[in-house]
Amino acid sequence: MTKDFELPSSMRAVIVDPPGGPDALQVVMRPVPKPAAGEVLIKVASAGINGADLSQREGKYNIPPGTPDILGLEVAGEIVALGDGVTGWNIGDPVCALLIGGGYADYCAAPAVQCLPVPKGLTIEQAGALPEVAMTVWSNVFEIGGLKAGERLLVHGGSSGIGTMAIQLARHLGARVIATAGSADKAKACVALGAERAINYKTEDFVEAARQWSGGAGVDVILDMVGGDYIQRGLECLAPGGRLVMLALKQGRKVEIDAGLIQGLNLSLTGSRLRPRPVAEKGRLVAAVRKAVWPLIERGDVRPVIDSTFPLDQVADGHRRMESGAHIGKVLLIS
Ligand SMILES: NC(=O)c1ccc[n+]([C@@H]2O[C@H](COP(=O)([O-])OP(=O)(O)OC[C@H]3O[C@@H](n4cnc5c(N)ncnc54)[C@H](OP(=O)(O)O)[C@@H]3O)[C@@H](O)[C@H]2O)c1
Repeated sequence: MTKDFELPSSMRAVIVDPPGGPDALQVVMRPVPKPAAGEVLIKVASAGINGADLSQREGKYNIPPGTPDILGLEVAGEIVALGDGVTGWNIGDPVCALLIGGGYADYCAAPAVQCLPVPKGLTIEQAGALPEVAMTVWSNVFEIGGLKAGERLLVHGGSSGIGTMAIQLARHLGARVIATAGSADKAKACVALGAERAINYKTEDFVEAARQWSGGAGVDVILDMVGGDYIQRGLECLAPGGRLVMLALKQGRKVEIDAGLIQGLNLSLTGSRLRPRPVAEKGRLVAAVRKAVWPLIERGDVRPVIDSTFPLDQVADGHRRMESGAHIGKVLLIS
């Protein structure tokens, strides 16, 4: 079902041409997409900026096949058309959605199974800050990392979009959290979100701090978005049976580790990428997040942390804000 007669034929969209700094982002006119079978068309209210968008803009990102050239991994907005075979959603529904790309635009098509309702209590714009962080954290900390109530979690980059969600979710699901951050203000923000202890990694050694905080026991799960020597150092502060989950490897992917720690303490070294997963797997994850995470957001226990918003036409400034590293939480584009 569509409401084509109400839709414009063209829209604004953001592409990269050629790869480079923020000025490589071009706002161009494109046809409004038609939702394929199983997809909905969303009139975008807000789109999250993610670290991956910055790498993609620089031409340094391993883009999965089938990704559109329009940037953007998540949006919130209103459903304005339904592709064939879509059930469970109606035209007019406010939703947020996880995308493989295409979110920096006035309209985008999304697999219906990758949509979630805008949680009660949030504006449609705020909901654009949720899909990527909620899905990534649920998948990596709870499913892959297996974090349980009563266990200890070390979150690197605690003030990032991902970190702010990881701290809150872990805390509200009964885990104890320690986080790293690159300034005193960011460390303070981590504590305000529920971390028992925040380490300024520029002035303190996180291995020593995590050992002390845990009374020498070590932490059970580490969410790592740094890589390089953080992997060996992470192994050094895990408790027996601990799990280190890698999200990003900015400081290096070829590393030397003491495998004896893994063998001797039954540790797991693992990680994942969300973006290349098939639609069916993303749909499964979205359903799991709707069941486990959405009630916490609707109760007000967990909230999206939004640093700043930029109009779509000022997308380059949004990227500059992310690149400055001064942000705490998410940076959003508003259509
Ligand atoms: N694997 C996946 O599927 C997946 C999905 C989503 C995101 N990610 C990755 O997760 C990361 C966070 O994403 P985001 O969008 O929330 O980005 P973001 O807000 O830009 O976060 C990047 C974070 O990395 C932290 N960081 C950099 N160097 C550090 C160091 N030496 N020690 C501790 N922390 C350090 C920064 O902390 P300071 O600012 O305090 O220095 C910042 O909080 C990104 O690297 C992104 O690529 C991966």
